[in-house]
Amino acid sequence: MRKNVILVVGGAGYIGSHMVKTLLDHGARVLTLDNLSRGNSDLLPGGEFRNGDLGDATLLDDIFSNNNVVAVMHFAAHSIVPESVRNPLEYYENNVAKTIRLLRAMVEHGINHFIFSSSAAVYGEPVKVPIEEEHPCQPSNPYGMSKWMVEQVLKDCDSAYGLRYVSLRYFNAAGADNLGAIGERHNPETHLIPLVLKAALGQINQIKIYGTDYSTLDGTCIRDYIHVSDLIQAHLLALEMLLDGAESAVYNLGNSKGYSVRDVIKVALRVTKRDIPAVEEGRRPGDPPVLIANSGKIHRELGWNPMYEDLEDIIRTAWIWHQNDAMRGKQLKKGTALI
Ligand code: UFG
Repeated sequence: MRKNVILVVGGAGYIGSHMVKTLLDHGARVLTLDNLSRGNSDLLPGGEFRNGDLGDATLLDDIFSNNNVVAVMHFAAHSIVPESVRNPLEYYENNVAKTIRLLRAMVEHGINHFIFSSSAAVYGEPVKVPIEEEHPCQPSNPYGMSKWMVEQVLKDCDSAYGLRYVSLRYFNAAGADNLGAIGERHNPETHLIPLVLKAALGQINQIKIYGTDYSTLDGTCIRDYIHVSDLIQAHLLALEMLLDGAESAVYNLGNSKGYSVRDVIKVALRVTKRDIPAVEEGRRPGDPPVLIANSGKIHRELGWNPMYEDLEDIIRTAWIWHQNDAMRGKQLKKGTALI
């Protein structure tokens, strides 16, 4: 009998690679599909790998015909808010149109368990904080809109084809696996915590603070940072729930605590004990001022309990990874020079 396979789409990316690692640790058979346009093959912790695009219907047909895929976990989205404002069509093509192709292939092959990486960006500017799942969804940028559109598509797929899904609305994912071998590496890097740590390492000259005139205590944007390993635990619970035959569901994933941009820099100063030069800039387009989760629903229904509730602990794991990654980069450079 063919062994059950979990297909991880985008498994060479930041969150996807942590998912692959945890699934392998649990003894699952994992197949990663990634086109490496934004992922990194050296971050793939193992399992089988297909280099290809999630919008490639022929490739999907081949994968689903030749593997007993019982669930698909989808991490392969573009996720940079300002980039989505500049280039919305790229976001709708990659995040919506290609996801529809993936869903169509799943339905054609009778695969009906899907875990979707959604986002706090679906809410837009919150009218009530902390944000519950029932909060109105009025995305304030094309990235958030692309996630919201897929959520609507999923609802209809559930009714029409019996496709059961869990949509996980991440707040700000941060940190790295505690062994320090995989972590957050984007190119270009636009996220606050990696940039702050790159400034601490001297890889960039300074960090820019985008917007100091928001109606928050210190004028900078507030976000709810959640450790990537806690996100992954939630995915495991969601996967178990679906495989046990549960109905579709939508859950927030955050720590229910807000930190401003200045708070993040202060905590990073404490963790790294290095200089982190910062300059103030104007607002970045598409940024909501405050995003803080109410994650009570997943706690009540699935028993999810985050391990990393303190920003300092989250940043410490990211700092270990960034130092290791910088070291790896230097060694690679040395290696290249010898050839
Ligand atoms: N910021 C700076 N300087 C920087 C980078 C970011 O001040 O150099 C600020 C941003 O303006 C924002 C905050 O730091 O206020 C966090 O920005 P990130 O780019 O780290 O993250 P975002 O909040 O824009 O977006 C992230 C994910 C999205 C997700 C969202 C949900 O990238 O995919 O969190 O809260 F939707």
